[in-house]
Amino acid sequence: MLETMIDLRLAPMAAVTNTPFRLVCRECGAGPLTNEEIDARALLQGSARTAELTRFLPEERPIAMQLLGADPDVLAEAARRLEAAGADAIDLNMGCPVTKIVSKGQGAALMRDPLGAAVILRTMRKAIGIRFTVKIRGGWDERTVNAVEIARIAEGEGVDAITVHPRTRSQQYAGVAPWEIIASVVDAVAIPVVGNGDIRSRADAAAMIAATGCAAVMIGRGALGAPWIFGAGDAPRTERARIIRRHTELIDTHLSAPTALVQLKKHLAWYASGFPGAAKLRETLFGLETAAAVQDAFWAAW
Ligand SMILES: Cc1cc2nc3c(=O)[nH]c(=O)nc-3n(C[C@H](O)[C@H](O)[C@H](O)COP(=O)(O)O)c2cc1C
Repeated sequence: MLETMIDLRLAPMAAVTNTPFRLVCRECGAGPLTNEEIDARALLQGSARTAELTRFLPEERPIAMQLLGADPDVLAEAARRLEAAGADAIDLNMGCPVTKIVSKGQGAALMRDPLGAAVILRTMRKAIGIRFTVKIRGGWDERTVNAVEIARIAEGEGVDAITVHPRTRSQQYAGVAPWEIIASVVDAVAIPVVGNGDIRSRADAAAMIAATGCAAVMIGRGALGAPWIFGAGDAPRTERARIIRRHTELIDTHLSAPTALVQLKKHLAWYASGFPGAAKLRETLFGLETAAAVQDAFWAAW
């Protein structure tokens, strides 16, 4: 009974968690959504591609817009604009491990400079009235695991909730996510903590809550090709087929043609990941040039 009440959320994933995938996850039972990371400076500079990333539909609410950046004023102004555009919450990305991002002092690099992070959080907090959350890692590397310190600073600066993916930046996605770091953040702050890392089933989510005391669970890779993880957990074959068809319709309806084709290939390849001959099918899907051909190849293998 308790298990059915778990607050399961879709993790932000760049070039994956666009409107079609967010909606399909919501329809399967996902709680508050987050879009993929948005470069705050590119948004202020009027990049059309970045503006496109900020779009969402009313049925996606409540939705948070996640910002990436390092300059407090730029981040605050981007947050203000996204609030004016109707976002329900702003999330600051303090966890992205990608070299191109951390070399600009953004993402996980923000955790290396707690004083600088405090200034950013204070400036953003003052700029907006909506919910303000942060997504952090365990720390930069094994010598500087400072999730608790950053979480305390965030709470002190008026942040409403913290998501913790407990691997360090150096770990990237390797090894097992050390959930005990989530537990130590839960113990250290009074605001809600969302646990994240290595959830592949509802049972994993229940185990994370039991082990850490986190208020909600965020799922990333475990939702790829399996949005039903937000519902009963597994779904009968006919229901899975219905959800996949719904997802492909949403891709067709909400994305422009070139993006739609890439997204269709990517997501159908994930849906096919358990099929016999999945690697070959994946290769076939990526070699095809029209949405109809991609769909035909997928359903022939289904
Ligand atoms: C393809 C991909 C893209 C990601 N993009 C983002 C992002 O834009 N913002 C962010 O905070 N985390 C991003 N992440 C990290 C996830 O949100 C999540 O913290 C991580 O995958 C661990 O959770 P999981 O084990 O459930 O996948 C990304 C992860 C993946 C695999």
